[in-house]
Amino acid sequence: MFTIIREALFFAKDKLRNISTSPALDAEVLLENVAKKNKEFFYTNPDSKLSESERELYLSFISRREKGEPVAYITGEKEFWGLAIKVNPSVLIPRPETEHIVEEVSKYVELLVRDSKKTLKILDLGTGSGCISAAVCFELLKKDIDFQILATDRSEAALLVAKKNFKKFGYNEKISTLQSDWFENLENYKSYFDIIVTNPPYVPHIWKKKAQKDLSYEPELALYSEDSGFKDVKLILKDISNYMSPDSLFLCEIGDEQSELLKVYVNNFGYKKVEFIKDLAGVERVLSVRN
Ligand SMILES: C[S@@+](CC[C@H](N)C(=O)[O-])C[C@H]1O[C@@H](n2cnc3c(N)ncnc32)[C@H](O)[C@@H]1O
Repeated sequence: MFTIIREALFFAKDKLRNISTSPALDAEVLLENVAKKNKEFFYTNPDSKLSESERELYLSFISRREKGEPVAYITGEKEFWGLAIKVNPSVLIPRPETEHIVEEVSKYVELLVRDSKKTLKILDLGTGSGCISAAVCFELLKKDIDFQILATDRSEAALLVAKKNFKKFGYNEKISTLQSDWFENLENYKSYFDIIVTNPPYVPHIWKKKAQKDLSYEPELALYSEDSGFKDVKLILKDISNYMSPDSLFLCEIGDEQSELLKVYVNNFGYKKVEFIKDLAGVERVLSVRN
């Protein structure tokens, strides 16, 4: 079968060819996790031998991947904003497009005329793995800013993962967590937050049947929303202004075909400024609201 790195990568790539759109990358990431070495090592030491236990573990990882399990759930990690975020099947696997929210927070904070005594208060609604909070915390710690983040989720299991991540990065004092069905347990936070971020579930339920195999491993609560994918974003938009401080910012990731309908909906609320921010492909993927 295989005994050395070059053969192992070839074997895995071949096995994963039909189930993955990135078989070579999957083969490498799984082997990195098994051998605790990076891909530069693989390229410079292609004839290095794998131990018997490494071979067995790699075979079991390939077999799980062949059945459709996402690489991130097999390795227990996904990179987001350069941070290795812990994941398990209770949380959505962080997606690169969600990094746009972190970019926008970073830009906004740069432009902010700040009262040095004031603590910037940030809310992350539906935090999941905690990836957005962790990345925002990472960015703001580099700047001379006093801030505090509250990360909420309806799912207790997701909050456990988020807490593990915040502890792993040493962010416990900057980020606290709260179980809440959107605003249910946020009564004490009226007009409180200077920045609110969210990546709510927005996949229409009817997509469940046609969804890629990979999606079937992720929590339905994190992916699907009723009302053709609009239920949660509409619920949030309806109440969000109650929790925003004067002149604050709200950022929300949206589905790639949702902006036209949301433009009409968001006009009902009379916000000071509404923008739809495009991704690199020119698709409007982040709703930005100033009150
Ligand atoms: C699309 S995932 C985003 C997770 C993470 N913020 C990210 O960007 O990867 C949506 C998150 O919202 C949470 N969620 C779904 N419905 C919710 C609700 N009614 N109240 C609070 N959180 C909810 C899910 O548990 C999930 O963690």
